[in-house]
Amino acid sequence: MTDRECVELLQWAAPRLRLRWEGFRRVRGQVCKRIGRRLKALGLPDAAAYRARLAAEPAEWDVLDALCRVTISRFYRDARVFEVLRHELLPARLEALRAQGASTLRAWSAGCASGEEPYTLAVLFQLGLRPRFPGADLSLVATDADAALLARAHRGCYPRGSLRELPPAWAAQAFPGPGEEPCLAPEYRRGIDFLQQDLRSQMPEGPFHLVLCRNVAFTYFAPPLQREVLSRMVTRLVPGGLLVIGGHESLPEGDFGLTRAAGPLPVFLRTEA
Ligand SMILES: C[S@@+](CC[C@H](N)C(=O)[O-])C[C@H]1O[C@@H](n2cnc3c(N)ncnc32)[C@H](O)[C@@H]1O
Repeated sequence: MTDRECVELLQWAAPRLRLRWEGFRRVRGQVCKRIGRRLKALGLPDAAAYRARLAAEPAEWDVLDALCRVTISRFYRDARVFEVLRHELLPARLEALRAQGASTLRAWSAGCASGEEPYTLAVLFQLGLRPRFPGADLSLVATDADAALLARAHRGCYPRGSLRELPPAWAAQAFPGPGEEPCLAPEYRRGIDFLQQDLRSQMPEGPFHLVLCRNVAFTYFAPPLQREVLSRMVTRLVPGGLLVIGGHESLPEGDFGLTRAAGPLPVFLRTEA
């Protein structure tokens, strides 16, 4: 299948999956490769034949949907966001919790890939915040639609390249092993609940003080679905809770009871009760 054929297939199929083609434009290589392999496995000559297969066998749509998941991630991705969480926003939240006699910060990583994002938060919490808030705990739910990625998250071992943005001292402490694929030390894995959930139909109950939904819904979902998901997500935030989206993403138009929490950075605060 040529790149052009793949692009046309994605442009045609994305709205039918409630996705938006534009989200795939820059990263389509991974998806096109997978679709090409699927065509081969089915013995189909080209994209037109695959469209015919989709029309004849509706179950194939679920296969295509799974092939469309972009899995790129890394630790401490968008470092400036993690820096503002570490130095300003989470300390303020932990102070507020302490004033209420509470100690547990509840967070959700939506579209957690192979665990890079939730484990980043776990490392940040233990090495960046615990020294100042020794009594504080992190309760973390991490969801993804993809079972294979969740299995990798459980394994917790990563190519060194995916650690390159993590502060080096933290990387050395959290990934003490040698080799090209070091594993996360056990103390950073505790208290994380990994769940297989499709964000389009399922969400953990919450409520959360912090939701990370980066490079998933607001890149790949069609605008009406973005609005639906965002509305439901906001109800999972406590008032004053934070929503973090991806560095290249923006929220859909509309009043969702959110305001910016860190200047131009993609961090939003729930304003309404
Ligand atoms: C590009 S990665 C982003 C990972 C991480 N949030 C980050 O920003 O580094 C997108 C992740 O979202 C997951 N995903 C895609 N569609 C999903 C859906 N409908 N429900 C839940 N997870 C989904 C993919 O499996 C993939 O792990």
